[in-house]
Amino acid sequence: MKTIENISRMSTFAKMMKKEGKSIGLVPTMGYLHDGHLSLVKAAKKHTDVVVMSIFVNPIQFGPKEDFEEYPRDLKHDEEMAREAGVDVIFHPLLKDIYPEGYATYVTVEKLTSNLCGESRPGHFRGVATVVTKLFNIVKPEVAYFGQKDMQQAMMIKKMALDLNMDIEIKIMPIVREKDGLAMSSRNTYLSGSERRDAAVLYQSLLKAETLIKNGERDAGKVIKAIEDMIKAKESARIEYVKLVDARGLKDIKTITGEIAIAVAVFFSNTRLIDNITIMVK
Ligand code: PAJ
Repeated sequence: MKTIENISRMSTFAKMMKKEGKSIGLVPTMGYLHDGHLSLVKAAKKHTDVVVMSIFVNPIQFGPKEDFEEYPRDLKHDEEMAREAGVDVIFHPLLKDIYPEGYATYVTVEKLTSNLCGESRPGHFRGVATVVTKLFNIVKPEVAYFGQKDMQQAMMIKKMALDLNMDIEIKIMPIVREKDGLAMSSRNTYLSGSERRDAAVLYQSLLKAETLIKNGERDAGKVIKAIEDMIKAKESARIEYVKLVDARGLKDIKTITGEIAIAVAVFFSNTRLIDNITIMVK
């Protein structure tokens, strides 16, 4: 495995691979790797010849009051984990090379990004779409891998690739969870012991909602209320949103029918966690 910092070196490597007829799978990350990230690598190894993992904490997707500075970083450890998982190249570009002085071009995906996290994190998805476009252009993958954990992000990237004729297959992989159901996240390291215990309520409340729906509940408001009650029972939890949306357009629904997603965003102190499940209702 090698680590490449230089953008043109990465690009040249990608061109070389193409000349040799090898396909490239890209796993974009912000590092501080966990098994959720590695599940994307595993999928990439199955489908493509060369697996490139990017590690770049992208400042333009963080709000001014968010955790860009504090975001956990540990390149040495990431390199060990990536090597073990079978990554071929880590692309770890410098901030000043990705956004040189005078940088002025941004990518915006409308509609899908207006609800859920888009409401509370203005500019976030524009920052993600922009950096992912740049990574696509540099690494030139045939396939790129994203996690369902960030459902709205993954759907946005799929739409962006389609709308902008990017000719890259976007694969969305299932959420990897801890034993108690908490979705793995680099941000889980911010949680105190008691917050970590309380955080399991996110997935538990989603499962409870699923049971309610399976038992016939079709009123979205009632399901939301049940989830909120469960989360509010945890002292350290502060709800940002609990929403039921249609799984295609991510618009709020009142009546539960067809394919729907239930998505939650909850703060534990300053740590913001998200989770979701999708359910097919006949
Ligand atoms: P990051 O949070 O590091 O996540 C990188 C990828 O791993 C994303 O596609 C995310 O959905 C996926 N992932 C994270 N936790 C997961 C879990 N528990 N199970 C499955 N997949 C999981 O998402 C980003 O970085 C950035 O926004 C990025 C796309 C790299 C752009 O900067």
